[in-house]
Amino acid sequence: MSGVNEIRSTFLDYFKKNGHEVVSSSPLVPRNDPTLMFTNAGMVQFKNVFTGLEQRPYSTAATAQKCVRAGGKHNDLDNVGYTARHHTFFEMLGNFSFGDYFKERAIELAWNLITGEFGINRDRLLVTVYHTDDEAFDLWKKIAGLPDSRIIRIPTSDNFWAMGDTGPCGPCSEIFYDHGDQIWGGPPGSPEEDGDRFIEIWNLVFMQYEQLTKEERIDLPRPSIDTGMGLERVAALLQGKHDNYDIDLFRALIEASEEATGVLAVGDHRASHRVIADHLRSSAFLIADGVLPSNEGRGYVLRRIMRRAMRHAQLLGAREPLMWKLLPTLVQQMGRAYPELVRAESLISETLKLEENRFRKTLERGLSLLSDATADLDKGDILDGETAFKLYDTYGFPLDLTQDALRGRGIGVDLSSFTDAMERQKAEARSHWAGSGDKATETVWFELKEKHGATEFLGYDTETAEGVVEAIVRDGTVIESATKGDSVQIVVNQTPFYGESGGQMGDTGIVSTDHARLEVTDTQKKGDGLFVHSAIVTEGTIKAGEAVALSVDHARRSRLRANHSATHLLHEALREVLGTHVAQKGSLVAPERLRFDVSHPKPMSAEELKVVEDMANEMIVQNTPVVTRLMTVDDAIAEGAMALFGEKYGDEVRVVSMGRAVRGPKAGKTYSLELCGGTHVGATGEIGLVRVLSESAVGAGVRRIEAVTGDAARSYLAEQDERVKALASTLKVQPSDVLGRVEAMMDERKKLERELADAKRKLALGGSGNGAATDAVREVGGIRFLGKTVTGVEPKDLKGLADEGKASLGSGVVTFIGVSDDGKASAVVAVTDDLVGRFSAVDLVRIASASLGGKGGGGRPDMAQAGGPDGSKAAEAVEAVAQALAG
Ligand code: ALA
Repeated sequence: MSGVNEIRSTFLDYFKKNGHEVVSSSPLVPRNDPTLMFTNAGMVQFKNVFTGLEQRPYSTAATAQKCVRAGGKHNDLDNVGYTARHHTFFEMLGNFSFGDYFKERAIELAWNLITGEFGINRDRLLVTVYHTDDEAFDLWKKIAGLPDSRIIRIPTSDNFWAMGDTGPCGPCSEIFYDHGDQIWGGPPGSPEEDGDRFIEIWNLVFMQYEQLTKEERIDLPRPSIDTGMGLERVAALLQGKHDNYDIDLFRALIEASEEATGVLAVGDHRASHRVIADHLRSSAFLIADGVLPSNEGRGYVLRRIMRRAMRHAQLLGAREPLMWKLLPTLVQQMGRAYPELVRAESLISETLKLEENRFRKTLERGLSLLSDATADLDKGDILDGETAFKLYDTYGFPLDLTQDALRGRGIGVDLSSFTDAMERQKAEARSHWAGSGDKATETVWFELKEKHGATEFLGYDTETAEGVVEAIVRDGTVIESATKGDSVQIVVNQTPFYGESGGQMGDTGIVSTDHARLEVTDTQKKGDGLFVHSAIVTEGTIKAGEAVALSVDHARRSRLRANHSATHLLHEALREVLGTHVAQKGSLVAPERLRFDVSHPKPMSAEELKVVEDMANEMIVQNTPVVTRLMTVDDAIAEGAMALFGEKYGDEVRVVSMGRAVRGPKAGKTYSLELCGGTHVGATGEIGLVRVLSESAVGAGVRRIEAVTGDAARSYLAEQDERVKALASTLKVQPSDVLGRVEAMMDERKKLERELADAKRKLALGGSGNGAATDAVREVGGIRFLGKTVTGVEPKDLKGLADEGKASLGSGVVTFIGVSDDGKASAVVAVTDDLVGRFSAVDLVRIASASLGGKGGGGRPDMAQAGGPDGSKAAEAVEAVAQALAG
């Protein structure tokens, strides 16, 4: 008997021996297929390889692929727990040929594996082929030696496999195992085929075509092979079981669940344990692949799965969160094959606990409302949709949970009145936003949100993905298509582009199809959940409804991530250095720099800034992983996460932690913990370096810090370095001596300036060095008058000069007209004290000013100053004052 882990590795080893590349499972959220909610087959990751769009370095491959079938087209959720072979999560083993081998080798490889390595009794095997596929029929005969009676021709779509409405497809051949006549059922194609006796174990698809549209099908470039074998089914067979839930892996999970609840998996409780075991697998793997519970899209499917499991835990009498307690068993069983499970264990654990705690509060109240509402109902009756809607709306019961709860009693739900109630609520919401004062152009986003639902953001995990264009908008109007040169806004069902929020700018990048290309210049969030890409069509035509490839500008996003993470580190460092009063007042995370405003009453000193920068860099060098978790706001705050006061947060928040504190009360614990929806580096080392550029005031009590990281920080420092080197070379000293040299030069300069001013003054006063400007002194009307035009003297120095003039005259009037380089004039008139009674300096300077083409002037009777535009009249001005003295 082989365990699930051995069967998986036997399968992969077998194909490796046969020249196949063993490829890891792709994530459950498909990146290359916008129409698919979850990866639901092994071939999903190879879709573009089959069609020739993508090249890989190998032409044959084998995988163990994790798959989820819940929500969307393939939805097994309703049956899980009540049947032997339905799962929301399962593993598909598959081998693939991309134009390498075709039918013959595929059949040979499959037959040898199951009858050889797996040792399955060949007499119990039978196969089906598509009714027109004579080639496959003959090959089975030749290779397996099967008699005609055990090669069954099937004319229906059962033997024509298609990935979806479009995509690669082809006829297929299925291998069945006969569990024996003690079990009811007939071979495929017979009226009893739905019985449980003949179980399909492996599907070999002969991929030959690509379905382009409903009507158009073309040949693939080269015939290929895609196969799929359910690991749980084949394990059941190899372990001699008929029921998938009896294999070793499920036994381990169910035993853990029995132990945790103290309730055995028998009778009515059997289904509950199975639901829990199955849903634990899908929930854990979805969370590990980046899906978190929410009320939209994939997140809502996850929530439905989790809540369905929680109701069953409640049926088993669990009063405490249960699912997370079973997680270690799952990790033990599957963590070796899927290391992502180990990596995400704490995130999964916390997310499960969070959802269970949150829902438990309303689950019991909802269930008692449900039991009151159905007290009078009997088998075959229908519960009104209003009650189901109330359970959904008020108690968080997904519709399928209500249906599941009533299933055992044979009671259905009136779906049409449920839908009516839902519509009514939407209409109410609509009237709300229509009247909320938003500009009419914004209404279009609410309408699109209501029609298509919120955009799913994939950008925490990937920078490239495919999406379907849900709407193209130009100037506030929805249009069907856009062509080269058009500036439009595009809404897509899912996107890796971050929409601007929390200070982090929106992503830019490329949106493309085979025949069109758009450059995305910005991404914004609108209409409560839509990501709107502003773009210019640079090639071809794009239409609504088309699938597009979305690719974020990687270099720019990397810088945004580094800057955002650096903001968190600076924030914490600021609190440490300045005190915990420091609160974030706003931030801008741009690709080339970051800006961060904090409340702090006074300018920071250069020393404080340096310490802040050093602390942030210390965390960068530490290079610890940046961890994101989902928590309730209350829990996050209780753990010490920094939240923005006055900010509106949802019920659940993303909490980003980074760094390990090395000192202070937090030593050894998480350094920075913040509520944040932004994108961050994987480990702090990716920031490279942070450099604070400036600190300034932006308002009362708010300081702004600007900084750069990574390459930008390095080139900033390199530029500074170049500058110092250039300076050193100009000064002809070593860079380390620049400061000393410049200080010496400044001292020298001050000294020279002083000497120059002295020399000029002396020159102005006549150059004799000890007193009167003798040649400029004359007697006017019995008054000693010193009148002179001077150049090269600053206007502010004229008064000092006039004082010296007065002193040298003893008694008299002084007039200096200074003429500046640009030809303007300033005049100063000084009157010695003994003459103040006779002449006013103010009157005299006005006379001078008038000659210079100016007006006015002012001062005191003993010293007044004025200006004038016309320096060429300086001599006239001196004479005008002389004349005034002459009377
Ligand atoms: N893609 C095929 C399937 O899912 C093998 O059955």
